[in-house]
This record gives sequence, C-alpha cells and structure tokens, in this order.
Amino acid sequence: MNVLVLGSGGREHAIAWKLAQSSQLENLYIAPGNPGTASLGVNVALSLTDFDGIASFALENNVQIVVVGPEDPLVNGIHDYFEDKEELSGITIIGPKKEGAIIEGSKDFSKAFMKKYNIPTAKYSSFSEENLESGYAYLEKMSPPYVLKADGLAAGKGVLILDDLNQAKSELRKMVAEKKFGEASSTVVIEQFLAGIEVSVFVITDGKSYKILPEAKDYKRIGEADTGLNTGGMGAISPVPFANRDFMDKVDNQVIIPTIKGLRAEGIDYSGFIFFGLISVKGDPYVIEYNCRLGDPETEVVMPRLKSDLLELFDGIATGTLSERDVQIDPRTASTVMMVSGGYPEDYEKGKVIKGLHAIEDSIVFHAGTKDDSGLIKTNGGRVLAVTSYGKDIETALKISYESAHKIQFENRYFRKDLGFDLIKKNQKT
Ligand code: AMP
Ligand code: GLY
Repeated sequence: MNVLVLGSGGREHAIAWKLAQSSQLENLYIAPGNPGTASLGVNVALSLTDFDGIASFALENNVQIVVVGPEDPLVNGIHDYFEDKEELSGITIIGPKKEGAIIEGSKDFSKAFMKKYNIPTAKYSSFSEENLESGYAYLEKMSPPYVLKADGLAAGKGVLILDDLNQAKSELRKMVAEKKFGEASSTVVIEQFLAGIEVSVFVITDGKSYKILPEAKDYKRIGEADTGLNTGGMGAISPVPFANRDFMDKVDNQVIIPTIKGLRAEGIDYSGFIFFGLISVKGDPYVIEYNCRLGDPETEVVMPRLKSDLLELFDGIATGTLSERDVQIDPRTASTVMMVSGGYPEDYEKGKVIKGLHAIEDSIVFHAGTKDDSGLIKTNGGRVLAVTSYGKDIETALKISYESAHKIQFENRYFRKDLGFDLIKKNQKT
C-alpha cells in the first residue's frame, strides 16, 4: 500500500516510523514532513490547506491511505473534500469528516453531546455577546477557579483558568465581545473546575467497532512540578499506573462506548482516531475534551508501544473490518522527553545547529521542529525533538531518555527534568 501522512511534527514522525515497519507498506510519503521523516519515506512540499494539491499528489502517486495528523485539515473538511470527488473515492482518509471533527472543533457542541449521552464531564453553560450578563451571573454562582473555554479552535490557547472573579468576568467579556481568540471565542463555555490527575486515552474506530490504544500522560506546563505556561506538551509516559483495569473499564463503559454510540445516534459517520482528554477525580473518569486526532507528544509513546501493524488497522478502517484486527501492546513503559528551544512557549530563536543526534543509540529521536540546512540539522520550532525510550518501569524509561537528551546539544535547549513526578509511586496522588 502507498500511504501519505499529513503533518510535520513529532506525532507525524512517530506515525511514519510505525508505518515504515509494516510489511504491507510500499511507498511512504509525508507532507510536508521533517528531516526525521525524510529517512523513512519521501517528504513532499505540500501545504495542509492545499486540498487540491494533496488530492492531485495522491492520485498521481496511487496513494490508497491518507493519514491526517493535525486537527485543522479535518475540521476544515479534508475528508469531505475527498469523499465528494468521484475520482478520489478509492482513497481512505484516516480522520473524521467535518461532522465528526466538530467534537474537537466546537466545545459547545461536545459539551452538549456529553450531556445528552450522559458522559461524565464538568457542569457547564455557554455564553456569547448577546447573553454576557447571564455569563457574569453564572460566574458569580460558581466558586473559583473559573474555567473559561473558547468554543472553537484557538491553537491550544483558548482555555483560561482564573482564580479571581473580576478577572474571570473581564476575560469573558474580552473573549466574546472583543474576540480575544477571534471567531473561536464568540461563544465561550464556562465550566466547573475539576481537581484530579489527567490522562489521555486514544481509540481507533471505523465507526462501528473500536480498539483502545495505549493510554498516556502528557506534561503540558513548561516548568517543573507542573508550573508556568501551558505548552504543546513537554513529555509523555505510557502506561499510566493509575489507569489500571478498574479505571479503564470505567473509561470504556462510561465514556468510550457512549461516545461511539452517541456519534452513531447523531448520524455522524466517524472514522479515525478519538482522543479522550480525561481527568481522574477520585478514580472516576471525566472528559475534559475530545480531539479528533492523536495527541502530541502522546503519539511518541503510543506508537512505540503498539506491537500490531498500524497499516493493518488503517486497512481495517478502509474495509470496515476493524473488529477483526488485533491490537497487541508492548508491556514495557515508554517515556518521551521533549527538547524545546529556550524561551518557548513564548518567543524563541530558530536556526540553532543540533549536535549529537548520531550518538543516540538507546532512544528513538522523533523530530518535532527541525530543518535540514544543507546537511546540517537545525532547530525550526519551539518543540524541537522528542526523545523516546523503553524501560521496565517509568524510572528506567525516563533515565534512558534523559541520558540521551543530555547528549543532544543546541544553544538554549531546555527540557523538564521531573517528568513522571506525579506517577512514580512515592509521589502518587491517585
Ligand atoms: P482543554 O484545551 O480543554 O484540554 O484544556 C486545557 C487544559 O486546561 C486541560 O488539559 C486541563 O489541564 C485544564 N482544564 C480544562 N478544563 C478543566 C476543568 N474543567 N477543570 C480543571 N482543569 C481543566
Ligand atoms: N498533547 C495534547 C494534545 O495533543 O492536544
């Protein structure tokens, strides 16, 4: 099979790495890809907004499967675009149509969906400029911290958690009336704050059946002990000890099954991945958010732990036979340490030469934000490299990732040194 992966980050490098191991793979293309994916397949200079260009490339190169890494092309309808054109009908898009991608594209939709199908989530109400006064009144009835969420996609920045009531009111006004996050914040979800520990759960589905992939814990904050600004993710660990059999049974019965059934009941033909952003509150799962794609950096630990052939699972989606496919999971722990540019998630410099990549033997290095400058690999983003290692437990897997990360050098590099602090037994909260 010929496969095209869309995206350029660590998630897409990890997907390409896994696909490259399939005996059924003939040609692998990655658009636009990065210097890491270039060693696994052919990078193709295509923009993710250029659906015409992607379609022409897929036809010319006899691509059977297009895997969509990030959410934007899905929310913007790439799957619908392929489905609407007769000549593209033989190509399977891994990722939902617009009607399904709305689970990530609109928090207002996903909250109403969860309420309708009795899926555990924080209590909420939605407000826009027309009922701003009711929004203030709603905030007054709640206790801090106040959680405000832009309805639409806001590049991961649309969630505010505030302790002060007046500040929460002022931010609400800025979001809905001054369009702080553009159209994305013309509607705002205000929800109850949930105190607990987060875990990301992923499923792959053909719309009828589903398979649960390894779960992962992501570390979103830039600073140690989960302090400072939110980032795209500073590292990940899988498996997650508190996501034990009992917890995962609750996730399956209370969250996954009602979600898949709910989508069908809504007439939404959903195929691809569903990413459940969960919070465990005293051992019970609540949905913080849905995403219509895999997580980054979670994929950099999920793919290494998937023993089964990913392309066979994709073929299960293409042929509607996912239920017959097998998902085998590596029992080892995988850890990812994200190496970032100094200053990230605020301003940072690019173009720093990366040294030491060839010295890494015990870890897999996924490229997240790099470029090839005449043979020199340089930094080209905030998140630069995801360093993944296996171990018999969290401590061992992390130790190897940290040893490798220390060998990789670039000016102003930074990575968190405390990943797993909340999971390692002596510290465990849940
Ligand atoms: P989201 O974009 O919805 O995933 O929110 C970003 C982050 O904000 C989440 O990963 C949580 O850490 C936090 N968060 C979102 N909603 C809540 C909530 N209701 N209670 C506590 N924390 C939340
Ligand atoms: N790591 C969180 C995300 O991909 O949204």
